[in-house]
Amino acid sequence: MKLALPGGIQGFLTEYWQKKPCLIKGGIQAFEDPLDANDLAGLAMEAEIESRLVVKNGDKWDVQHGPFENFPTSETDWTLLVQAVDHWFEQSQDLMSLFDFMPRWRIDDLMISFSVPGGGVGAHLDQYDVFIIQGEGRRRWRVGDKQPLKTLTPHPSLLQVEPFTEALIDEEMQPGDILYIPPGFPHEGYAIEPSLNYSVGFRAPSGRDLLSSFADLAIDKELYNHRYSDPDLRPREHNGEITLAELTRLKSNLTQIFNDDATLQRFFGQYLSEAKHELDLAPAEPAYQQEEVQQLLHEKAPLHRLAGAKALYLAGISDTLFVDGEAYDLPQQAVQALADSSAADVSVLAAHPDALAVLTDLINKGYFYFVEE
Ligand code: SIN
Ligand code: CO
Repeated sequence: MKLALPGGIQGFLTEYWQKKPCLIKGGIQAFEDPLDANDLAGLAMEAEIESRLVVKNGDKWDVQHGPFENFPTSETDWTLLVQAVDHWFEQSQDLMSLFDFMPRWRIDDLMISFSVPGGGVGAHLDQYDVFIIQGEGRRRWRVGDKQPLKTLTPHPSLLQVEPFTEALIDEEMQPGDILYIPPGFPHEGYAIEPSLNYSVGFRAPSGRDLLSSFADLAIDKELYNHRYSDPDLRPREHNGEITLAELTRLKSNLTQIFNDDATLQRFFGQYLSEAKHELDLAPAEPAYQQEEVQQLLHEKAPLHRLAGAKALYLAGISDTLFVDGEAYDLPQQAVQALADSSAADVSVLAAHPDALAVLTDLINKGYFYFVEE
């Protein structure tokens, strides 16, 4: 499979990314479905995996959350959606790796839907950029321009909007076609034939998300106990007033926090590496000893990162590896080898006892694993 974006990757990013939707006919050359409807149904039966079934019945919508034991028998008007399939289904890695040109921290998950004719989730907006790839079957997709649309609530969890009449894109998608939609553009898709759709979604934290997670960290670590102080206080004529000077001083209490770069940077690394959907994390059983890890590194046994787990580092601070919300100190070479590609040459680590201890810990937790030959 090969990605073919209009104007190449850079051309696409400049022209469309976060700017306007586009339909890319044949966007994935030699497209192959990594799974079929039965595989998807199997995933939706697992308790750890997030899934939804959306059934349309005239004007009424019904939403059920998995795990499911059985599925509708009707041949029309329902869709099954499974979240974070990339975390659970190894064979989806080839599809995900087509998006290796994107910063890993921006990637959220691979959502896969199976729809029977007429099936869809209704017109809605997403807060995320998404590439919707058409797999098996055909589905008609419409995308409207950004516009004020009333939120409808035929079902509270669908976040639907009122129908949009004018469409920027109105196409029947075929296998391998890609629909790119930036945040805020209303869209709807209805299957024409039983259809698989792959949504590669991106995350973009809001200021509020960042603030509230940073506040959690400050509370947890009991940071920023500095208090407002006013040893220069004067008698006050208007004692109901908070003066401008006082406001400035209060604000500087906050500015001090936002100027604490060391804490903020570590927070960003931890926050952005945290998986937003459950990981298929299985601690190594039995646990590896450091010597065994060293031996396997010497033998150049391929080391893989757990699918969906984010291993990241910060520009300029390359001796800390962030994995799923935790920070690990490692030599710079090791950090890049572990974070930048899925099957990295990390044999250099065999010679670093401290790094070996950290890597053994990461392997025992299940974030990395050896594929022994
Ligand atoms: C779907 O595949 O039905 C939903 C994808 C989306 O609209 O985000
Ligand atoms: Co959507």
